[in-house]
Amino acid sequence: MPTRGRSVPQAAPLASYRAVRARIDRAVARVLAGGSYILGPEVEAFEREFAGYVGCRHAVGVASGTDALTLALRALQLPTGATVATAAHTAVATVAAIELAGLKPLLLDIDPASYTLAPAALERALAGGRRIAAVIVVHLYGQAADLEALLPLARRCGAKLIEDCAQCHGAALDGRRLGGFGDAACFSFYPTKNLGAFGDAGAVLTDDDNLATRLRELREYGWRDRYVSALPGMNTRLDPLQAAVLRVKLTGLDRANARRNTIAARYDRGLARTGLGLPQRRPGATHVFHQYVLRSAARDRLRAALGRAGIGTAVHYPVPIHLQPAYRERLALDPGGLGESERAAREILSLPMFPELAAADVARVIAAVKASL
Ligand SMILES: Cc1ncc(COP(=O)(O)O)c(C=O)c1O
Repeated sequence: MPTRGRSVPQAAPLASYRAVRARIDRAVARVLAGGSYILGPEVEAFEREFAGYVGCRHAVGVASGTDALTLALRALQLPTGATVATAAHTAVATVAAIELAGLKPLLLDIDPASYTLAPAALERALAGGRRIAAVIVVHLYGQAADLEALLPLARRCGAKLIEDCAQCHGAALDGRRLGGFGDAACFSFYPTKNLGAFGDAGAVLTDDDNLATRLRELREYGWRDRYVSALPGMNTRLDPLQAAVLRVKLTGLDRANARRNTIAARYDRGLARTGLGLPQRRPGATHVFHQYVLRSAARDRLRAALGRAGIGTAVHYPVPIHLQPAYRERLALDPGGLGESERAAREILSLPMFPELAAADVARVIAAVKASL
């Protein structure tokens, strides 16, 4: 069937620029005219504002979400080669960071309703006598993982807990923003994220003063004093141009998240009683719908039909980490298997979702999904 009318993209970072173009242009011009191009006042201001928004003492701006995770793991000073548990169903960056920090990933299965780390899987791994130094909990798609169960489990076995907040800017659990629950929280500001820069950017948040100091050293060659490294560090500083962009966008984050929720509610209503699996809300959680993810045993057929109708979709993510060529047959895996992660990868589909998505386009997406069933 030929595409009728405009196509609807799955994500649209350009729309987020157009929405606040004059303010972004002014902010970028301010940085360029200011003459401070590495760290400096713009980065410090964003760090202060974002830490305040999340409710943490410190935010340390870095060059990407992957670097945020790597640096957080390094700053925790875990023994080299120690095991870090996380979900097999996540962005590859979560697992890449574990290895970049010289640590060993243990991939655990997910809870099929929330797509986040299953507490039973962590319990299984611990019952098998495995020593786990840290757990990375990924708040996937914009909603909290099961922190009520995972936090006490991590504490009981002496593991550090890192929140991967790349997909949950502004989300909360029981009224507290995600990012303030563990030892450190890692954010990505990749352009399509709920809080997105116009390039790569990231941050680590923590309440721990010593950890924050170490993070600041590690992101800049391990310097304590200029040109003198106290630690073997790297160069992963948040770019002040991106910090300026993020400061503008942070002021609109709650509004953008509310708009995502409006769109999600329309999808919920429009797709009820279709037999498709719709996103489930965790009690007490404020979802920010980084993605609106459907579930269907006929996912590929549905996706192809939507493509023909001009509706952009995505699969986050099509191959669980343990089945990807870079990682296959060499990582420690859930003793109970990774059946739910593998099933999710076959069945999930992310519909168009971004704050600027027009109501008429939401209606078109709903109609196209229904027509394809
Ligand atoms: C869950 C998750 N973790 C980590 C990352 C890595 O962030 P970045 O792309 O900024 O390195 C991403 C984003 O791609 C992500 O979605």
